[in-house]
Amino acid sequence: MTTARRSFWAFSTASLLTFGAMMPVHPVWADEPGPVGAVAFDPAKAALGKRLFFDPRLSGDTETSCASCHQPEHGFTDGKALSDAYAGSLHFRNVPTLINSAKRAAWFHDGRIGTDLNDVTRESITETYAMNMDMRLMQERIKQDPVYVEMFKAAGLGEPSNGGVRNAIPEYLKTLISRGAPFDTGEMSQDAQAGYRVFKASGCNACHSGERFTDDLPHNLGVPDNPEIWATPERHITFVAMMKFLGVENYMNQRADPGAYIRTHTADTFGTFLTPTLRELSFTAPYMHNGTLATLEDVVAFYDAGGGNDANKDPRIRPLGLSATEQAQLVAFLRALSGVPLTGPDFVPERIDTDYAPIENWQDATN
Ligand code: HEC
Ligand code: HEC
Repeated sequence: MTTARRSFWAFSTASLLTFGAMMPVHPVWADEPGPVGAVAFDPAKAALGKRLFFDPRLSGDTETSCASCHQPEHGFTDGKALSDAYAGSLHFRNVPTLINSAKRAAWFHDGRIGTDLNDVTRESITETYAMNMDMRLMQERIKQDPVYVEMFKAAGLGEPSNGGVRNAIPEYLKTLISRGAPFDTGEMSQDAQAGYRVFKASGCNACHSGERFTDDLPHNLGVPDNPEIWATPERHITFVAMMKFLGVENYMNQRADPGAYIRTHTADTFGTFLTPTLRELSFTAPYMHNGTLATLEDVVAFYDAGGGNDANKDPRIRPLGLSATEQAQLVAFLRALSGVPLTGPDFVPERIDTDYAPIENWQDATN
């Protein structure tokens, strides 16, 4: 039992004594999930990864960094319904948080990458809809920066390389772990505690389970489509190109996001999306794979109404009949899963100085 867990227990017992007559308090707090356990990381590689994550020179036109879309103050999302993309393009999905993403079993809303964060990093750097960078060019570009030459050496990665970048950024992502949420510190309000009971009574934990509140599996809730995808050529083009690449049949006429269907190509998986974490939601609005629900109140109302309309909708998504008070309590609970923002110097580098002099005798240097 951790100290935080013990104080949570003490707090719950105290509130049981004080409020026990008024409201039932869940007796088994000590068995509840969380806090999110730390992930071991290599400090020198993570420091390098932190600089790379915020460095726009990793994109083709030197204008976009990972942090352009994954902004620390928005819980490493961008605060928009649908993501931007590399200049001249736009994305058709909502930016997911990167906090705790090192603990996922699969990545992206459709789970199309299930190996490791090294592959996610490669895809993010090279794909046209993200940073549109040729890794060979990237390697030569960062070799010119004496700070990187030093940092790669210190991290034991030799001279700056494509492989080293894909190794270092995931080490940085491992440092982005939730901390300090009222749920974990024993500081949940009475409303949040009541909301936790509503959460369990409503069956939310069937899919939102474990310390990150996700089973990392795809489900269909009938989330309505975002019409902006089909109305904005730059988004639609990205969608068509990706669906073609992923082998989706009839991709030119497709007007719904197939989600994790691309992993199986079986009809019953159409429109399923990976369960997202419920950690850090206070920072990551709007919600769902396509950003169609603007607030947590909207999300709770959506579930209360039994989700949307879809032939593949999970049978556990059904009308809940929650009162206005219960809905507000559920929102209070969801907010109690947000911790301290990861915006300090451990997570955000100092200004990246790109005003360096080329190395002397650069035409004669070998590397
Ligand atoms: C132009 C915006 C943009 C940029 C730049 C960007 N991302 Fe993303 N990122 C997204 C979007 C959108 C998704 C979801 C895509 C999907 O589901 O198809 C995503 C998903 C991810 C995920 C999966 C998270 C999860 O829970 O499934 C990781 C990890 C990630 N990005 C890391 C990075 C890294 C590292 C970089 C820089 C090398 C980067 N991203 C650059 C927009 C961006
Ligand atoms: C059948 C599994 C399942 C159940 C039950 C379930 N969820 Fe979800 N939840 C999901 C999936 C899958 C998504 C993502 C859907 C999408 O992106 O289209 C999601 C999304 C969310 C989101 C948005 C998160 C984000 O970052 O966009 C919130 C908040 C949420 N659920 C809360 C709840 C609450 C509260 C309940 C109970 C009333 C609940 N969920 C029940 C599977 C489930």
